[in-house]
Amino acid sequence: MKKFKLIIIALTFVLNSTFVYAQSVEEIIKGRKAMFSENYQNGKKISILLKSGKKEEAKPIMKKMSENYKKLLDYFPENTKEGFKTEALPSIWENKDEFNALMQKASDDMLKLAKAIDTADDLRGIQKELMWSNCSACHNRFRAPH
Ligand code: HEC
Repeated sequence: MKKFKLIIIALTFVLNSTFVYAQSVEEIIKGRKAMFSENYQNGKKISILLKSGKKEEAKPIMKKMSENYKKLLDYFPENTKEGFKTEALPSIWENKDEFNALMQKASDDMLKLAKAIDTADDLRGIQKELMWSNCSACHNRFRAPH
């Protein structure tokens, strides 16, 4: 009887963990897509705010983008290479250090941007340099054409 109970417990444990595993791959892939989309929306918001000189309103959004990039560092585990319409390329996992460095740079640059807008003359130029160029630098190598 004791053995039977143990087997049931073990079985429940195994079933539970495979369920959690399967669910979390979906959650991770969907979660990272949602964060990239949010960053895109926020990037556009920042551009609009800066066009009308609303620098102080743009700063918290830059910080939010920076935090999202930092969180994204944990959203590319080995078991999320495929499925759920991911556009992530295998090159990410073959060059994980380089990928992470680009992510970290994108995060750091958003904080630099929040400082730079106080004194920069060319707001469009500085946004291109510290925000938009990081998107294409990473997408060119690590995101499938879409
Ligand atoms: C360090 C790499 C990196 C940086 C920097 C980066 N991206 Fe991405 N982006 C990716 C990858 C990888 C994907 C594919 C994720 C997936 O489908 O699992 C992606 C996907 C996206 C998507 C699609 C999300 C969806 O719903 O499928 C959008 C939109 C996007 N990025 C916008 C941006 C914008 C805008 C920037 C810059 C402000 C940016 N990204 C910066 C790597 C990056």
